[in-house]
Amino acid sequence: TQNLAYNVGVTLDRFIKSKQEDFPFASGELSQLLRDIALAAKIVSREISRAGLSDVTGAFGQINVQGEEQQKLDVIADVRFTRALTKGGEVCAIVSEEEDLVIDLQNSKGKYVVAIDPLDGSSNIDVNVSIGTVFSIYRRVTPSGSPIQEEDVLQKGREQVAAGYVLYGSSTMLVYSTGNGANGFTYERSLGEFFLSHPDLKMPEDGNIFTMNEGLTPMINPNILSYLESCKRQGASARYIGSLVADFHRNLLKGGIYLYPATNQAKNGKIRLIYEANALAFIAEQVGGMASDGKNRILDIQPESLHQRTPFFIGSTNMVKKLEEVLKS
Ligand code: AHG
Ligand code: MN
Ligand code: MN
Ligand code: MN
Repeated sequence: TQNLAYNVGVTLDRFIKSKQEDFPFASGELSQLLRDIALAAKIVSREISRAGLSDVTGAFGQINVQGEEQQKLDVIADVRFTRALTKGGEVCAIVSEEEDLVIDLQNSKGKYVVAIDPLDGSSNIDVNVSIGTVFSIYRRVTPSGSPIQEEDVLQKGREQVAAGYVLYGSSTMLVYSTGNGANGFTYERSLGEFFLSHPDLKMPEDGNIFTMNEGLTPMINPNILSYLESCKRQGASARYIGSLVADFHRNLLKGGIYLYPATNQAKNGKIRLIYEANALAFIAEQVGGMASDGKNRILDIQPESLHQRTPFFIGSTNMVKKLEEVLKS
């Protein structure tokens, strides 16, 4: 019947190509870079779907620069994505959550810098709960042929030329934007293709979901608690997966707000600006949502260091605006 009709029309490749045709003088390198990311996403999706059967769950045995215990899949995803980006040839530098320093690929032909959270939601890997990947793409600003400079990697989020995420959920999805709206693609495993399933995504202006780790409440600004109380009085529901990508994606589709505030122990909260917050903020704005650190637009923050953290409030515009108001009081 009609409502069971299988939506396998436009592949990601075809979609990227049709967008490329809108820019006849563009070289097509950004398109190729997006395809490289999609390929790595397919490989990682395959590893994840077998996680309970193969030896890819559990700790890897090392602590990353964040002070977190790396999981095997953190490392596997990091290797898969960095390899795809290295071999692809369009990229000159990579910033990854799992790497202390910038990876300078010494590729004088590469115009693009990529920042990546290869695997988001590490604590959910071993319990078969949705996890993700987050990526940001910037243009290199210093001349090619010389070593990568700080200003190439510490760019404001508003300079992103493209950004997106992959959600390894009940199905695997890729959502990306090149600054002209955002589109979502669902992976058809047996065909090995992503298909356009969520054209021209829009986030509801208002929402009925609040998303925060409630365990943080004794350690945060009481104004945030007042805001959450007002959400509850209006009948909103609590939803918290603990994978930023999955929490953000649900709120994008349904309307809601995600909060990771500063705490007494972590004065900038937990979420990392360069490879988590910026990409999702870019997507949020492209779909009519909003992202803030409580005071400032996330995309306007000048990063000072690679693994810098930021308080992070993202979601339906009216909810984020109201939160900013409450924080001023
Ligand atoms: P990552 O797995 O990439 O290190 O990111 C984890 C982040 C994010 O995905 C999630 O929203 C948040 O950490 C959860 O933190 P809590 O466990 O403190 O709630
Ligand atoms: Mn981590
Ligand atoms: Mn993450
Ligand atoms: Mn991660």
